[in-house]
Parts: sequence; C-alpha cells; structure tokens
Amino acid sequence: MEYAIDIKNLTRNFKELTAVDNVSLTVEKGELFGLLGPNGAGKTTIINMLSTMLKPTSGNATVWGADISSEPTRVRRSIGVVFQGNTLDDRLTGRENLDLHGRLYGLSKDLRSERIMEVLELVELSERADEIVKTYSGGMMRRLEIARGLMHHPEVLFLDEPTLGLDPQTRNHIWDYIEKLNREENITMVLTTHYMEEADSLCKRIAIIDHGKISALGTPTDLKAQLGGDIITLTTATEDGATGLLEVCKDLNLATDISISGSTVRITVPSGERAIPQFLNAASGNNIPIESVNLRKPTLDDVFLYHTGRAIRQSNVDEMDRMRFMMQSRRR
Ligand SMILES: Nc1ncnc2c1ncn2[C@@H]1O[C@H](COP(=O)(O)OP(=O)(O)O)[C@@H](O)[C@H]1O
Ligand SMILES: [Mg+2]
Repeated sequence: MEYAIDIKNLTRNFKELTAVDNVSLTVEKGELFGLLGPNGAGKTTIINMLSTMLKPTSGNATVWGADISSEPTRVRRSIGVVFQGNTLDDRLTGRENLDLHGRLYGLSKDLRSERIMEVLELVELSERADEIVKTYSGGMMRRLEIARGLMHHPEVLFLDEPTLGLDPQTRNHIWDYIEKLNREENITMVLTTHYMEEADSLCKRIAIIDHGKISALGTPTDLKAQLGGDIITLTTATEDGATGLLEVCKDLNLATDISISGSTVRITVPSGERAIPQFLNAASGNNIPIESVNLRKPTLDDVFLYHTGRAIRQSNVDEMDRMRFMMQSRRR
C-alpha cells in the first residue's frame, strides 16, 4: 500500500446536482490532510463516500489499502469518523457513549474498559467520564466524539468540520488535540473545514474544493506563495477614482494580479513595502486621492478568492454556525 488514501475520479450525483465532481487525490500515511471549502462544496459527501456511508456514482477510492466499493467492511475496520454535528447520546455519560461504540465494534469488555481509559486520557476527559453528556460544554462534547472515533485504534481518522460552531478559544483547544493525535499516535487524518485559519494552522496539505471540484492542492505555504507576493489594497473616495487608479497601477507593470471591487483596488506584488510608494506617487500624479492603504501577506482566503473568484465570508459563516449549533443543542 503506497498511500493511506487513494481517490480516483470520484463523483457523486444527487439527481441533477453533481455534489462531487471527478475528484482525484492521494493522502500520505501519517499525513494531516485538509479539505477546505464553503458550505455546500461537497466535503461531507466526500467523507461519506470514503467512510462507506454513501456509494459513489462513479470513480473509486482505496482507504488503507481497501476498496470503498468492494471491501467496505475492511475499510470500516481501519477508519474512525467524527461526524459533522453532534451525534452523542446526551442522556448517557461520557463513558457509556464510548462503551456503546466499543460494543458496536465488537470489542471485548476488558478491551473496552482499557481503551476507554486511554482515549479519555488523550482528550483529558477522565475526570468527567461518569457525568451525563448533557452537562458537557460544546468543546467537551467534541473531544468526546474525537475519543469515540479513536476507540478501535483506527489507522485513518475522518473529522468532518471538527470545530463547527465552537468559540475561537475552544477551537484552538481542539486543534491542539488533533495535532497531538496526529503526531503522537501517528494517525492519518483527513479533516474538512470552512475555517481558513484551521486549515492553515493544522494541515500539512490542503485541497481547496468548490462546487464539488478541487481547484487547488498543496501545502498552505506553497498555495499562498503561488499568489505571487503581498497584497496591497488602495481605497479611493469614489468608484470612478478606483477605475482610474486601476489603469494607473496597471501602467506601472509591478503587479502580478490586480482587481477592482467598488472603490477598492486590490494589487498583488512581490514586495509590498517597495511598491506602495510607487503606487501612491502615480495616484497623486494623476490627481486620484487615496483614502486608505493596507498591506498584508496573503491568507488562504486570498488563495480561495484567486482560484474561485469568490470569498468565503468568514464572519457570516461563523454567525450561521453558532446559530445552527445553538438550535441543535436546544432541540435535544
Ligand atoms: N442526501 C442528499 N440529497 C441531495 N442533495 C444533497 C445530499 N447531500 C448533500 N447534498 C447536496 O450536495 C452538495 C454538497 O453537500 P455537502 O457534501 O454536504 O457539502 P459541504 O459538506 O461541503 O457543506 C450540496 O449542494 C448539498 O445540498
Ligand atoms: Mg459538510
């Protein structure tokens, strides 16, 4: 077996909708791989196919050497899954939730109690193990779900939006566990996320996915470097001013990419510090007043924008997540 996961031309249709469109990629053994894309991009559908919950329309994949279509039982034995959204039974204790899962996997009583202690230790929930899950915080529930995914010693762990709806501090905490598990237990991990910082800080490589297709693949560093440098945004008083500024900036031949949005011109250059004075001189030479200047290093947000022409509006998404999470908790 060369790769932990080997996906070839994987496609899934739901009636006329192509949710996953001819995806091919490989994941190395021990790698922490990320699928990054907005809501509806097809991330969960990919995870569902790889974990044998859903059949592909066409194409195929192997997970830990087993074929997802013809050897689903072998696949299931080598994987753990942390699903999007809470799937714990909150009337049971943490320990009981883990025990239930161990039984589903046919682990013996002794093995179950031994493994439960180990995984609780890993996610630092030993102290709260015998309390009803309903009393847990959102972050604790997530940690328990991760522990549950690890009960049967999987080689590959799928984490579908592991920090969805959690506050930034708890999110950071969960990242630490994910990193620790990848490093210390040498578990191959595939996580999906629409949080740019999550993919950036955690994943060794990421695939950017939009409308079911992979639009870029690489390490976060390489993907950002491919954009060709720093990003300068110049804001003018009026949209007409920006249109004029766009032409003036283009004429300087410094930019690797240049675009306009309302009264803002967005310019990518190899070195922002050096280019800014030249753009400002050119603007004032053409009587175009500049209201504000911003310089920053590219983020995965910019990478996504570059490849798809759209931004993932982080703040709106975060707010929607929190509401969804709250409604979910209230329903139970
Ligand atoms: N069971 C289903 N039936 C019909 N459409 C579905 C089903 N599951 C997902 N979809 C659609 O497929 C697309 C991809 O969904 P999904 O994989 O859940 O995206 P993501 O996880 O990236 O948010 C969406 O347009 C979604 O509405
Ligand atoms: Mg999803």
